[in-house]
Amino acid sequence: MIVVRLALEERGQSDISGAFSLHREDIDMRLLRSVLAGTTAFCAAGAVAAAELEVTHWWTSGGEAAAVTEFAKAFNEGTEHTWVDGAIAGGGSTARPIMVSRITGGDPMHATQFNHGRQAEELVEAGLMLDLTDLAEAEGWTDFIHPASLLDSCTLDGRIYCVPVNIHSWQWLWLSHKAYEDAGLDVPSNWGEFIDTAPQLIEAGKVPLAMGQQPWQTAGAFGVLATAIAGVDTWAKVTIDKDASVAAGPEYAKVFQAAAQARELSKDSNVQDWNLATAMVINGQAGGQIMGDWAQGEFAIAGKVAGEDYTCLPGLGVHELISTAGDAFYFPKQDDPEIEAAQLELASTMLSKTAQVAFNLKKGSLPVRGDVDLAAANDCMKKGLAILAEGNIIPSGDQSFSADTATQLEDLMVEFWNDLSMSAEEVQEIYADIIADAD
Ligand code: BGC
Repeated sequence: MIVVRLALEERGQSDISGAFSLHREDIDMRLLRSVLAGTTAFCAAGAVAAAELEVTHWWTSGGEAAAVTEFAKAFNEGTEHTWVDGAIAGGGSTARPIMVSRITGGDPMHATQFNHGRQAEELVEAGLMLDLTDLAEAEGWTDFIHPASLLDSCTLDGRIYCVPVNIHSWQWLWLSHKAYEDAGLDVPSNWGEFIDTAPQLIEAGKVPLAMGQQPWQTAGAFGVLATAIAGVDTWAKVTIDKDASVAAGPEYAKVFQAAAQARELSKDSNVQDWNLATAMVINGQAGGQIMGDWAQGEFAIAGKVAGEDYTCLPGLGVHELISTAGDAFYFPKQDDPEIEAAQLELASTMLSKTAQVAFNLKKGSLPVRGDVDLAAANDCMKKGLAILAEGNIIPSGDQSFSADTATQLEDLMVEFWNDLSMSAEEVQEIYADIIADAD
């Protein structure tokens, strides 16, 4: 429930007769727009100009496309505006520089994806993003967005500049039942068993660990190994406190050894895109993949059932936790009040209960609101929800590192993963140097 009148009163507009106590799903977007435009003329709020909004994102795999279609549908059907899809292929590392250069170069899209965290920080600081604070207050976002860190990542100097749309966690190992059956093995229940059974998988002609070549994949997998092998406290000293001595120390040495092992086990993957690596797990060519839970969208679209065709191990089956990574939408300023009103309607739509459920079920992510019905969640999503309820969450690297530091770490991992002659000790030394200068 939200009480619209409170928001109006805060804006000094208490001249409206009657209280407006409404479920947010019931709020007519035009009414809401009217609230935000500071008008009390609710009856006249029907005249809204239809706008076409270009929305950029990097959701191009089968599961991702199915999920983003739910947002487009909710916007097209629930408002008089039109979603113009601006998908950029190649993943986040390719898409983000394009998005940033369009925004800074004077050709901004109307809405765009970034990961939760600091990727758009400089754009916000430069005053290029629409301020969503009034909308957030009118709709009571702080009351239902959970965990609060998601909205914190959208907030700068007390103002809100983005809409978190999901919680995606990097912390998963996806295992192929077919691959293990073919090799006459039980499906591993943790990273140690995964490593121990890898030689038999290789003998059976399988690639133990599927790994694509997009730069972000190895960096993400490294972060997952770090929490599983070094433990959350040690990971936090490096990633949150940016303690270079811990990054250079013995606990992290074990993480780099594990990464070298993972590199060896993945060297025959020969795929570029993350979803092609997931496909290797789906069709039994590979034993497993360390990947965020967006992988679930691929299993779903291939008709695979969690627990029957594949197993998902949060925290690599070592420490059950999830990271609060994920996606948020920003709305670059347009200097056009009608477009701005439509942008706010899109922001509101993305957070509506129906869109949150429809989108996240297809995306494999958890909704950002705890007050939605997720009866249709599959086994893996249920595991994620239980971990979230227990509060076993950590921030994502993107929430902690600046975009510049994240890129340096990503580049280093690409080098390490591609150059088999680079030792665990060598990469650890360079990693620790980056942490020493990290912001
Ligand atoms: C995003 C996911 C997306 C994945 C692969 C991540 O950065 O958070 O939504 O599915 O990249 O494209």
